[in-house]
Formats: sequence, C-alpha cells, structure tokens
Amino acid sequence: MKKHILSPGGELNGELRVVSDKSITHRALLLAALAQGESEITHPLLGDDLQSTIAALRFCGVLINEEEGRLYVHSDGVLHIPDNGVVNCGNSGTLMRIFCGVAVGANIAYRLIGDDSLMQRPMRRVAWPLCEMGAKVEVESSGKPPIVLEKHQGLRGIRHNLKTASAQVKSALLLAGLRAEGETTVEEPLPSRDHTELMLKSFGVVPKRDGALVSVQGGTPLNATGIKVPADISSAAFFMVGAAMTPGSDLTLTNVGINPTRFGAVEIIRRMGADVDVINVREYGNELVADIRVCGSELHGIDIEADLVPSAIDDFPALLIAAAAAIGKTTLSGATELRNKESDRIGAMVEGLLALGVECEERKDGIVVRGAGDKKNVFSGGKVQSRGDHRIAMAFSIAALRAADEIVVENCDNVSTSFPGFAAMAREVGLRIAVEED
Ligand code: S3P
Repeated sequence: MKKHILSPGGELNGELRVVSDKSITHRALLLAALAQGESEITHPLLGDDLQSTIAALRFCGVLINEEEGRLYVHSDGVLHIPDNGVVNCGNSGTLMRIFCGVAVGANIAYRLIGDDSLMQRPMRRVAWPLCEMGAKVEVESSGKPPIVLEKHQGLRGIRHNLKTASAQVKSALLLAGLRAEGETTVEEPLPSRDHTELMLKSFGVVPKRDGALVSVQGGTPLNATGIKVPADISSAAFFMVGAAMTPGSDLTLTNVGINPTRFGAVEIIRRMGADVDVINVREYGNELVADIRVCGSELHGIDIEADLVPSAIDDFPALLIAAAAAIGKTTLSGATELRNKESDRIGAMVEGLLALGVECEERKDGIVVRGAGDKKNVFSGGKVQSRGDHRIAMAFSIAALRAADEIVVENCDNVSTSFPGFAAMAREVGLRIAVEED
C-alpha cells in the first residue's frame, strides 16, 4: 500500500492546472452513452473512478476509445447488458447512484457492487424514489449495497422531495425521468451541483428550473456532442488551502471550474481572510472556468453553517486543515452528510487532527477546531490514517506546509480515484512529498 511521506515546511509557488473534474467526466460519459452517435470528451479525468465508469459502460455495449487524452464515446443510445450482469463500481458513489438511474431507464436486470468503502454507503435514498417511479430496485435491509435491479413494467414521472441535498440522487432521478412517462421533478433543500442539468443542455435536452425545483420531460432524446472538462475545483482545493495558509506562497491554479454550486470552498477561505483572486473568468461549454490566484496570508476561525455545506461538500477535509492553521475557533455544523462519504470524514478528520496535536472536538453534525495559526507550526509531526479516503490523504499531506516534523499519511492508494499524479504535481509547486510502497 502507498504512503505519503512529508517533510515539514516549504511554500506553494508557480502555476498549476490540476486534474480534470471528476463529476463532469462521469456525467460526460454517462450522457454520451444515452445519446445516439459519437460524443467527444476533451480533457477527461482518467482516474480510477472513471475507469470504473468506462468499464461499466463498455459492459453495456457502449464503444469508448481513448486517443491522445480524449475519449470518443459511440452509442446507439440504448444500454445492452447481459441479463443479471454484475457491474463493479469500485470506490465510486457517483457511478453507483447515477448509473442506477441510467440503468433503470434502460430497463435492464443487474446487480451493482463496489469496494469495501462503497459497500458501506447509503443507497436507499436512490432506490426508494426509483421504486416510486415504477422501477424494481432492492438494497440490503441496512440500506447498503449491493443494489439489485429487475426488469419493470415502465416508469412514470414523479415529484420527489430530497431530504438531503444530493447531486447524485438528483441526477439519477432526472436521467431515469428522461425514460419515464410524463414529467419528473426533483425538489432540493439547498442547491447541489448542477452539472447534469447544464450538460443535458449540451446534449439537446433543457431541464426546467423553477426555484428549488428541477424537472425533465420523459421521452426526450439526447444528441451526441462534444464536452470539454475543466480542472476540478475540489482537487484545486488542496492547493488553494495549502497556499492560503503558508506565508510566502503565491500559486495560480488555471482553468478551474467555478460553477457557483461548487464554489463554497473559495467563499469559505475568503471569509477566513485568504487572499484569493479569481481572474480570467470565461465560458467553457455550459460551465464557467477561471484562474485562481492564492497568496499566503493570516487566516481566522469562522462559523460555517449548513447553507454553505453542499457547495463545498467534498472540500471539508482541506478546509479543516485551513481551520487548524487559522487563528481562533472554527465551527462547522449541519454537515452530518460528511459521515456518508468515502469514509466518515468527520471521524477521520478529528482522528488525524488529534494525531497531529490540533485541539478539536467531534460533534454529531460537524466539528470544532481550535486553530493555532498564531504559531509558526500548527501541526506536530506524526502518523495519520487516511482510512483509504483519497481526500483525507491529500488534506493531511498539505498539512506538512505548517508542520514541525515529518508527517506520514498511510493508505494512500485511493488518491488515484480522483487525482492521479497528485504527489508529482504537488512536488512541482513546492510540497516536500515522497511516496513509498509498504
Ligand atoms: C457528486 C456529488 C456529491 C459529492 C460527490 C460527487 C456528484 O455527492 O460528494 O463526490 O458528482 O454528483 P452527493 O450527491 O451525495 O451530495
């Protein structure tokens, strides 16, 4: 198993285009599979999660070729899967949940499984509304995978009220809704990422938006198209935090997706006092991209409440490192959903922060961190368990910039699910990182 060995200190300087967006690449592949003809995906992320998606779609008869970093997806718009086939979603919750909606729309009988982490994640939230639409979807009595699908007699549109903001569930319902009779409407408690809605427009389908409601009309066909994938703001988040909390840093992250439903991390570090410039804002298909320049400055503790959680949902491991490097107390609340990610991210962050000498307290729905930003070194050295979670591993790697001693992050194999090449890129801009195999 890989571990990250980090020598303390350093600064982050220069220019970096981090890897492409995971959410957008997943959607580009899945929507291209539902469209008739050949779609071209430029700058896809080719991390392990996407390899799972590519394998799942090939299993359903979709032709996918990679040429010079682009993906060409050729489909007749219909998924063909051997009856009772098994699709392994690896570590990817996005694939398992969204693919569930896609496959229900295709009316195929199959079983979805995943790795140890994914087999522990809640799936009833997607299974129940799909059943309400007429699908036959079963999960374990605990609500966990495997997800077992059987053929159904047809789907009908529903109006579903999401209890928790979730772009994965919203996307699954909208994509199933495209193959249902009538209209399917999803109501969100807070806005979750809207990449599916934006990308559907590129494929010729325009979802209707009315405040918290988003609807699609059943029977609308998708037309193959070209999709360009921006750099992933959630991968950029580690570098934004690293530069913001380290005096002397001056780092520009280029071509980063700045979709407002993903922009929470920038808003949060700005509220903490970070020096962040968002420049060269431009359109990139139906998404927005920009270059983000971050310079080191003094950070202050803040209160982060539920309304900011969905737009920064994947960025809290990095943001809690910023909290530890800030002066004073940061309180995160309304974030219970973090316990349902690739690991229990509240538990994993509390454990790691305590191991590095940071004062913090676990709450059911969040965490309180008492930052020691007035000191040069806010983290001691030590050993941290990533719990096999890519974002926990990268967050604690960045902590080394303000550490007194060496940090070792264990179990880093899954970093390649979202950020293949993380260590090499981080080293290029100044992180003192080495990777060792156990
Ligand atoms: C994702 C949505 C979020 C996020 C995940 C990717 C997506 O999950 O945490 O990493 O691509 O739709 P939820 O839908 O569970 O909020």
